[in-house]
Amino acid sequence: MTKITTKQLKDLWIKFFTEKNHVQIPSASLVPDNDGSVLFTTAGMHPIVPYLLGQEHPNGKRLTDYQKCVRTNDIESVGDNSHLTFFEMLGSWSLGDYFKKEIIKYSFEFLTSKDYLNLPVEKLAVSVFEGDENIPFDKEAYDTWKECGIKEENIFVLPKENNWWALGEVGPCGPDSEMFYITDKEKCCDSCSPACDCGRYLEIWNDVFMGYARYEEGGQVKELAQKNVDTGMGLERTVCVVNGYKSVYECDAFADAIKTLENLSGKKYENDNQYTKAFRVICDHIRAATMILGDEIPTTPSNVGRGYVLRRLIRRSVNYGRKLDIDAFDIVKLVDVYVSLFEEYYPSLTKNKSFIIEELTKEIKKFNNTINQGLKEFEKALKKLEGNLLDGNVAFKLYDTFGFPIELTQELAKERGFEVDIDGYNECYKKHQELSRASNTQVFKGGLAGSDFGYAKYHTATHLLHASLRKHFGEQLHQRGSNITLERMRFDFNFDRKLTAEEIKMLENDVNEAISKNIKVEKTEMNVNDAKNSGAIGIFDSKYGDIVSVYTIGDISKEICGGPHAEYTGQLGKFKIVKEESSSAGVRRIKAVLE
Ligand code: SER
Repeated sequence: MTKITTKQLKDLWIKFFTEKNHVQIPSASLVPDNDGSVLFTTAGMHPIVPYLLGQEHPNGKRLTDYQKCVRTNDIESVGDNSHLTFFEMLGSWSLGDYFKKEIIKYSFEFLTSKDYLNLPVEKLAVSVFEGDENIPFDKEAYDTWKECGIKEENIFVLPKENNWWALGEVGPCGPDSEMFYITDKEKCCDSCSPACDCGRYLEIWNDVFMGYARYEEGGQVKELAQKNVDTGMGLERTVCVVNGYKSVYECDAFADAIKTLENLSGKKYENDNQYTKAFRVICDHIRAATMILGDEIPTTPSNVGRGYVLRRLIRRSVNYGRKLDIDAFDIVKLVDVYVSLFEEYYPSLTKNKSFIIEELTKEIKKFNNTINQGLKEFEKALKKLEGNLLDGNVAFKLYDTFGFPIELTQELAKERGFEVDIDGYNECYKKHQELSRASNTQVFKGGLAGSDFGYAKYHTATHLLHASLRKHFGEQLHQRGSNITLERMRFDFNFDRKLTAEEIKMLENDVNEAISKNIKVEKTEMNVNDAKNSGAIGIFDSKYGDIVSVYTIGDISKEICGGPHAEYTGQLGKFKIVKEESSSAGVRRIKAVLE
């Protein structure tokens, strides 16, 4: 069988579905605009969610596309044969148009027709939903596959863990039917099935029968009036499987990047040698970084949210580059490779090319400055060790002072046969947070070390939001609680109804306006009484002692707080409310992010 390329598969997919009257829609941004709960678009159906729930799509009821996706939960697994952080997903949808039988027949045709994938029927296996106490066994899917010609021994009836698909806790969902390529591996046992992960059955496609939705976390699954079909095929993975490749890195999509790295390093890429992981991690991470930076909504490296993911991808690439003995800045050369490969599909890359290169270079420079010092510190600490457990204090110092994410320290330690005392590290981290809140000193540190800065920005954003809420809804409104992580802020306040979309926009606008004015955040120490008399708001209990810090942001906000805070509002980025919900009786909760 001739080998298929990712480009060919993409083209075949679009051709097939457009011939079946589906309209090709463009890939959406990697930054989801209808879901604040995840950082990136993680599946083809992600941007389609509102339409699966019933909103009318301007392009009709039959859609198809290829969608750029980023998943970073498994970032540490990158380097094995199959994990990628950036990948493309081929998708097709019926929005309340045709349903189960039709999509199964289409799927069978695409997989076996000689004009398309031309896979032998006996190499295909499928799974269908077994049913549970609420939803019955999917007999229709079973019978349709049988009708298509799949032998019963290759139709597997599997439970919810395998055959139910949902994007997250809330949203459209439903039973699915997955398609697998049967490799030449023997059955691992009598009950060998696609559920057993032995490698005999490799998934290539998923048809989800999205006739259900869950509207709140932990809530009941409800039947949707609109019965949808959502299908998704991982592009690189399918090419890898049907071509019989050992790893996704054999796909044409990585060929030029690997060649470039080979030339830069003078080392040969092989499926399994001491350099394999480094080649793969760099190829994957710089591809993802290029796509994130070059997206129509670009992200820049930072210490929070998407920016932090990007920073981690770049910094991990630099670390793996060291293993190939290449200059840190050499990895920037891969941008050219990936922009050339993808620009015909994702035009924002061409427009953003110099931005991608600049940001990447800037970030490498930043990292280089701290990393060399940090490595010395790390080696020194290892030499002093008696056992094989690296002290949590040391790991924290590496993080705090030299910008080593804890995962990096763990990886470096592991390579040398050491472990990191992670509980000790977490303790230091927590203590440090408390200290910085209390003393509010040393707020700004350079590079990745600025975890405090991540918190500081959110503290300042909280004050701006608080001020805006009081401006619009009156001075009886008070903070009832707040919780800040490096990724988001949560703010509770007394209010007895849901905010409208317009009100949410109005709050966002107020905060963003204050940010755009780049106002200095002034800190003054005074005793509690003076603070009260000066009109500062805040909790006047003994928590802060007699002397308190009052933070003033122009004439917008004056609030007692332990800090830390940004120096100027302009440092905050873009403020976005991602959720407004009830927290308890008479208390509302806003979750917001800085982008
Ligand atoms: N949503 C399903 C998946 O991501 C099918 O598109 O696998």
